[in-house]
Amino acid sequence: MAEDKKMFKVKIDNISVEVEPGTTILNAARLIGGEVVPPAMCYYSKLEGSGGKCRTCIVKVTKGSDADPRPMPKLVASCRTTVMDGMEVANITSPEVLDARKGVVEFLLINHPLDCPICDQAGECHLQDLGYENGSEATRYEFKRRTFDKVDLGDKIKLHMTRCILCYRCVFTADQLTQKREHGILGRGDAAEIGTYIKQSLDNDFIGNVIDVCPVGALTDNTFRFKNRVWFLKPVDAHRNCNNPKCCGKVVLWMRGDEVFRVTARKDEYGEVENFICDECRFEKKDKNDWVIEGPRKINHHSVISQGQYVNTVKPLDPLVDVLDGRKPKLLFNIHSESQVNRPEIDLSKIEGPAHSDDFIIKKS
Ligand code: SF4
Ligand code: FES
Repeated sequence: MAEDKKMFKVKIDNISVEVEPGTTILNAARLIGGEVVPPAMCYYSKLEGSGGKCRTCIVKVTKGSDADPRPMPKLVASCRTTVMDGMEVANITSPEVLDARKGVVEFLLINHPLDCPICDQAGECHLQDLGYENGSEATRYEFKRRTFDKVDLGDKIKLHMTRCILCYRCVFTADQLTQKREHGILGRGDAAEIGTYIKQSLDNDFIGNVIDVCPVGALTDNTFRFKNRVWFLKPVDAHRNCNNPKCCGKVVLWMRGDEVFRVTARKDEYGEVENFICDECRFEKKDKNDWVIEGPRKINHHSVISQGQYVNTVKPLDPLVDVLDGRKPKLLFNIHSESQVNRPEIDLSKIEGPAHSDDFIIKKS
């Protein structure tokens, strides 16, 4: 008879959990869930070898194990430290951890521009959430910040290196999902940057996933940039029979009315992709009729998008039909001719690049 696997008992912020040997502190905390889960900017459960770069997940090990109860001398990265039997860990219950994390956020923001109002990632940016929840209100950094020109990585992906926090997720994604990685981190230390050698385009059928794994707005979707704010869009689960055998064809469509503005993979409660999708699903299928729509997508509580509730809403009755004895109201005026909305023949989701004044009706005064 097979022997029962020995489980390790761990306490995180005084909450006990039993996990398999080899589990990291971060994943043990994720089994508990809620506030005790340390934030993670570089670890990604679907990418082998990820983690250990950003230090946002640091925790204090107050008891090493039952066999050796000495505390660990320094704060450790919970995404890279495996549990021991009897280990005790402090995360939000340790003022030292919270203070150190504040310092990490300050470091991550040293070169990161505070351009959230015009950044496409705003509303779903993990650094924005991290800054709100763990950062301080001001920086002490007074020196010149690193800046870079924006670069097109192929025709679908825009690299805005100034925003990159060097988490390496996109490098692991390209390594593990595509046939050939053509970008990486060039240089070291302060000179490190994401780049493609002689700026080759990233031409692989799964490369679009780098957009989904990027925790900040460094890699954005050229087919969606500046077309809409994510919190104005309604995310819905949808699927299609994709011919690519590696692609599950299960996505989230970000819609406004009947227009599909962008397609992304489905993400879990930690904002990590559940199943990676191919570039055809992501970039080429922007028509509602390409998809079987399943229903509204629940977005994690961190996101401003979850504030735009549209499930379980009761639509108020339109009294006009009753008042008119069942007759349908006549269109009184065409809103397009009365306001500055886009011209009726233009689908904002389909135009090349962001909308310009030509796409709108400007009333002459
Ligand atoms: S571009 Fe994004 S995913 Fe790639 S290293 Fe920078 S922050 Fe990470
Ligand atoms: S998530 Fe652990 S070091 Fe980045």
